[in-house]
Amino acid sequence: MIAAGRWQPRVAILTDETGWHTRKLREALARRGFDGRCADLADCRFDSRSPTGLVIPGFGRELPVAAIVRGIAGGSLEQITKRLGILHALRESGVPVYNDARAIERSVDKAMTSFLLARAAVDTPPAWALESAAQARRILIREAAAGHCLVLKPLFGSQGRGLVRVGLVDGESVPLPDLAGFGGLAYLQRYVPPPSAVGYDWRVMVVGGRAIAAMQRHSRHWIRNVARGARGVAAPLTPPLAEIAEAAAAALGMDYAGVDLLPDAGARAGLRVMEVNGVAAWRALQRACGVDIAAAIVDDLLGRRLGIAPGASPRRDGAG
Ligand SMILES: Nc1ncnc2c1ncn2[C@@H]1O[C@H](COP(=O)(O)OP(=O)(O)O)[C@@H](O)[C@H]1O
Ligand SMILES: [Mg+2]
Repeated sequence: MIAAGRWQPRVAILTDETGWHTRKLREALARRGFDGRCADLADCRFDSRSPTGLVIPGFGRELPVAAIVRGIAGGSLEQITKRLGILHALRESGVPVYNDARAIERSVDKAMTSFLLARAAVDTPPAWALESAAQARRILIREAAAGHCLVLKPLFGSQGRGLVRVGLVDGESVPLPDLAGFGGLAYLQRYVPPPSAVGYDWRVMVVGGRAIAAMQRHSRHWIRNVARGARGVAAPLTPPLAEIAEAAAAALGMDYAGVDLLPDAGARAGLRVMEVNGVAAWRALQRACGVDIAAAIVDDLLGRRLGIAPGASPRRDGAG
């Protein structure tokens, strides 16, 4: 732990991919006197013979003073259970985990996200999650009769992968595909049509309960993820946009969150929250807005979760 010069407490950046985001986080941590070290959750392990019961590569016999979760690779149910288990175990050991495993679990599960948003009275499109294809078809028919089509999404999907519109799509009837391709589960969300030919949605970054940056994503395709070619454009963070994004992050108990919203004239503030990302990327948003998001994340982690005032140096007992 004791470097030749200044002592630097170590923060784990848990990620399956090192690159721009991890570099920005390490730089922001270094500016505050912390050593950010990347570790892949796939390589972390339980070991009841180690003093902490855990082995985090790069941390020797010790645990980090905090952990930032930046990426979790896909894997088998067993592997994911172990990876999330490591996050739970860190929390149980008193290590602040940002975002907490419980918040990550809630947000990767789109059905749970819809449930928690609706329960917190955050405007979100109506959604259903069910295992019976026959029941799903009945919902499709009912929704089509009311003039709506539905989006069938992989429960744990990301980056716009695997989404299909079903029911009455542009005047044509699209049947429900075989649910085997969706893990035997129909997660259906009512489609919110765009107000014009080039549709858009919003991505708002919430850090420590406050919305700090927003962009619109423009695309002619109805799936408007930047990973799918949508164009990110800086957008003003209006009070209604900030308010609903903050409410969404709070409903899921997030330290930081990338909140996706759609314009919808039928919603109270003209906005609906479509998704909340607990392991959100922010490169496109930072490029569009120029806000230093890694610095905001690090300042919030150190201030709110570790009690270290801005400008203070870390102390050897881990406090500020
Ligand atoms: N209910 C919906 N109505 C209209 N567009 C939607 C809806 N759901 C998803 N989309 C489009 O698909 C994109 C990806 O959906 P999202 O739920 O955010 O999943 P992912 O986790 O793959 O990003 C959204 O950014 C949006 O452009
Ligand atoms: Mg999304």
